[in-house]
Amino acid sequence: MRAVVQYGTGGPEVLKVEERPVPARGNGEVLIRTEAIGVPFYETQLRSGLMPAGPVPAIFGHEAAGIVVEADDPSLHGKRVVSVSFTGGAYAEVVAASQYTLVPDNITPTQAVAAAVPASVALALMNTADVKASETVLVEAVSGAIGGYLARLAENRGARVVTTAGKGTADIDHNDPDWRQKVPEGIDVVFESIGGPRAAELLAKLAPHGRILAYGLLSGEFPTFPVAGLIARGITLIGFGGPDAYGKRVAAVRAEALDLVADGTLVPVLDRTYPLDDVAAAHARVESREGVGKVVLIP
Ligand SMILES: NC(=O)c1ccc[n+]([C@@H]2O[C@H](COP(=O)([O-])OP(=O)(O)OC[C@H]3O[C@@H](n4cnc5c(N)ncnc54)[C@H](OP(=O)(O)O)[C@@H]3O)[C@@H](O)[C@H]2O)c1
Repeated sequence: MRAVVQYGTGGPEVLKVEERPVPARGNGEVLIRTEAIGVPFYETQLRSGLMPAGPVPAIFGHEAAGIVVEADDPSLHGKRVVSVSFTGGAYAEVVAASQYTLVPDNITPTQAVAAAVPASVALALMNTADVKASETVLVEAVSGAIGGYLARLAENRGARVVTTAGKGTADIDHNDPDWRQKVPEGIDVVFESIGGPRAAELLAKLAPHGRILAYGLLSGEFPTFPVAGLIARGITLIGFGGPDAYGKRVAAVRAEALDLVADGTLVPVLDRTYPLDDVAAAHARVESREGVGKVVLIP
């Protein structure tokens, strides 16, 4: 089968397209012939070395949708599923998966892969934040997949939503280094994905007893908040990620998130598709930040 193998860290050239043996199916795993493979932003950071990656060389990639071709349960054969892996292996024509979710009939493989991780992360974040109709929320990077779904989910709860992005129609341009000064006061919930030391400026914008859900580091740096500032305003800082949040709480709502796509509540946004062989161009596209929506590889 064709697969994309990571050799070291660096630019897109460390990803090489090769012939590889079809993976052996482990205990409880299914084999999926892939139809669409997601390229999320954090994978560019894993590839570049900004985030720590596992041992290489190894087949890269974490999100794939496709048809089950082998499974212990024969009723799964021929079913479309979307799989999420924490250890790689998704940039391939066939993947072995232990974590997979059935895809509703009216969702295409491209839509499934555009929603499987970010829509379920957004739903789990929204549940963790417990946003109320009377509240005002700040969604950073609404041009991103998770940010876009967060804004929609918060609006559906009746909340007032303030958004940032580097392009499009967001309320605040986050390419302005002083953008945090433009955030209105009285924010109840911040969905913090940009990070960096200047995230602390948001404390002044939070309503007393507001909460911050810190879940990303798009700037390449974790956010920093002085504890004194949290105490003074009674702010709750909630870290969201790692095996508990990302692995369990997000996986637990994946089927519900796909159902929200199937009924039209959430609408996946697609930027571009690339053949698997053009993986370097796909990574360059994500890093360029020119597009809005998901970049998808088609094997
Ligand atoms: N905690 C978890 O469980 C979890 C799970 C998955 C992902 N994440 C994290 O969540 C974040 C968002 O992921 P995603 O998949 O939604 O991203 P995505 O769809 O790939 O979107 C990328 C977004 O990042 C913005 N961006 C890129 N570089 C930036 C920078 N230096 N400063 C400000 N904005 C920047 C872009 O905004 P513009 O181009 O408009 O400026 C765009 O909105 C990432 O940090 C990812 O690692 C966390």
